[in-house]
Amino acid sequence: MSGIHRTIFNRLLAAWVVVSLLTGAAVSWLGISRIDSQLVELASAQLSKVSAASLPLLNRAESQRSELNQLAVDFVRQHAIAVEFRDRNRNRVVAAVNPLHVDLEQELRGRPYSFPADGDRHFKKFTADGQTVLRLLLPLKETAGGIAGSVEGTFLIDQETLVRLRDEMIVTLLVVLFAVTLTTLCLYPVILSLNRDVMRYSNDLLKGNVELMEVLGSAIAKRDAATNIHNYRVASYAVRLAETVGLKRGEIRDLIAGAFLHDVGKIGISDNILLKPDALDAQEFEIMRTHVTLGVEILRKSDWLQKARDVVEYHHEKFDGSGYLKGLAGEAIPVTARIFAIVDVFDALTSKRPYKEAFPFAEAMMILQQGAGTHFDPRLTTTFAGIAEALYQEVSNTPEGVVESRLQALIAKYFFASR
Ligand SMILES: [Fe+2]
Ligand SMILES: [Fe+2]
Repeated sequence: MSGIHRTIFNRLLAAWVVVSLLTGAAVSWLGISRIDSQLVELASAQLSKVSAASLPLLNRAESQRSELNQLAVDFVRQHAIAVEFRDRNRNRVVAAVNPLHVDLEQELRGRPYSFPADGDRHFKKFTADGQTVLRLLLPLKETAGGIAGSVEGTFLIDQETLVRLRDEMIVTLLVVLFAVTLTTLCLYPVILSLNRDVMRYSNDLLKGNVELMEVLGSAIAKRDAATNIHNYRVASYAVRLAETVGLKRGEIRDLIAGAFLHDVGKIGISDNILLKPDALDAQEFEIMRTHVTLGVEILRKSDWLQKARDVVEYHHEKFDGSGYLKGLAGEAIPVTARIFAIVDVFDALTSKRPYKEAFPFAEAMMILQQGAGTHFDPRLTTTFAGIAEALYQEVSNTPEGVVESRLQALIAKYFFASR
């Protein structure tokens, strides 16, 4: 599974877990409420069998309560654990307990509870002796609308009914979880395909930016040395040195962009100075130095090309602080610029230019070593000395097209592979 597939899979899995838990909790809560309301309806139906008959008997004197008493005894025998009638002042007038459930009723009595006196129906569920019990309070209303009193019944819930209702709830829960799982599974290919589109657009954009980097590098090469190969070679050397010293992927990307664009500011230097075959005088050299500032200004137009900024701005700094433009020294010079300074000079020394022949490899290395600690970072120079000969053999006398295609492979590795 590739990185992006794993990311999408993990996020969908997390979403599936969260949605399943939330919907599961909601369905369970609704299911339990539904079970309670069905139990209450069942108990209400039972209590309503005595509520009408008890209404005229409720507020009679104590001596006239035998009829209500009989009603209560008959009721519990057939339907309930206990029943209790209260008058309009909430005083208990008659109560009866089913002789088969005396112990259960005793146990329930030890559990304090109270229903609000608001004239509404109320219930409470208990578990006692492993059995479910429902206590229900029904107000007894007169036809005129007043409250004559109340009846409170305690019912043993039939286990079969309870199991049936719970099974119904579990089935609903499973159906909902199945629907959530199915939706998540359907979303996976949809998100994957959308992501593929986004990746394609983002790759096209990146490709455009990399091309822009190469075009700009090529534009200045055409003005300066009339060849792109300096850019290709310095970029290749720089990447190999960066890999050897263990630079991070992002830093290597910055270094490649910097290698292409290091002298982009030379576009703004006039031909009589840029192409002068002889040594520059002090004033001309001052103008030549401005290619660094011009380069930084050109890059400012593109956020993406800012990657190259460290190399462009600091490639003429020297390790002892005697370089330009800022005169930075030591590790204050960004590592990408310190690496680049070594490979840029190495390639300049080992290449033929209109005004000079190429130095032999050994002589070029001697000049680099002499500059270690003054011009160049000594640690990086030592590392480069260890890999330079092999690099030089690989790159020198190699056709431009081959050097370019090897560099394209490095660009693909650092800019495009498994982003
Ligand atoms: Fe430069
Ligand atoms: Fe250069």
